[in-house]
Amino acid sequence: MPLLEIRDLQAVYGKAIALEGVSLQVESGTLVGVLGPNGAGKTTLLRAISRTVDSSGTLTFNGQSLIGREPHEVVGLGICHCPEGRHLFPELTVRKNLELGAYLRPSRTEINASLEQVFALFPILHERLNQLAGTLSGGEQQFVAIARALMGKPKLLLLDEPSVGIAHRLKIEIFDAIKIIAASGVAVLMAEQDAQNTLRVARNIYVLENGTIAKHGASADLVDDDYIRRIYLGV
Ligand SMILES: Nc1ncnc2c1ncn2[C@@H]1O[C@H](COP(=O)(O)OP(=O)(O)OP(=O)(O)O)[C@@H](O)[C@H]1O
Ligand SMILES: [Mg+2]
Repeated sequence: MPLLEIRDLQAVYGKAIALEGVSLQVESGTLVGVLGPNGAGKTTLLRAISRTVDSSGTLTFNGQSLIGREPHEVVGLGICHCPEGRHLFPELTVRKNLELGAYLRPSRTEINASLEQVFALFPILHERLNQLAGTLSGGEQQFVAIARALMGKPKLLLLDEPSVGIAHRLKIEIFDAIKIIAASGVAVLMAEQDAQNTLRVARNIYVLENGTIAKHGASADLVDDDYIRRIYLGV
């Protein structure tokens, strides 16, 4: 049984259809990429999972339906969402921002253990713990946003365009860190527009266009697919 199973998902904004008949699966501990152009529905898909956007269809996580649940219940089940645009608290320190990601966890010892894990992944954050988040570079802020979501100790991490607007060198670091996160046993569902890096790190890919899945498969197969090469890799 997959960790996350989505079948025939629909989401609308008023009369506009944002997602229609979307089906997708994420197995435990795997990295799955969702590629698609602006307005394709990527953010809506992630928000439907974290229940910050209403939707209908089948959404099953770890054998339990997510439909009708509140966003905080979804976090409690083990799904943490790192949103588009990061949404850090700029006037709070890096440490405070990270600890806010652990707000549902009672054990200080475990929270400290998670802090150590995120420092291993993003060593720069250890140096910047007492710096105000708003004064970090864009790339460093993205590290904090991913790390904050990890502080909730998710079984499934939702990442919305983690590499957008970030310089090449830090981008590579971010994709490599995400790969390490998945290898450590956390399932990751990542929306992205950087097809090259997403195909490099993700096991499976879904291509979302106009609110529907246009194509899906293993990255290893899709790198050779004519449509993917022409439209998404430009080769
Ligand atoms: N709150 C909203 N109200 C009305 N329409 C919305 C709302 N949010 C998104 N939409 C519309 O739904 C469609 C899908 O948007 P969504 O943000 O999910 O796309 P996306 O793939 O994440 O795009 P991007 O790559 O630009 O972030 C778009 O047509 C968008 O205009
Ligand atoms: Mg988006």
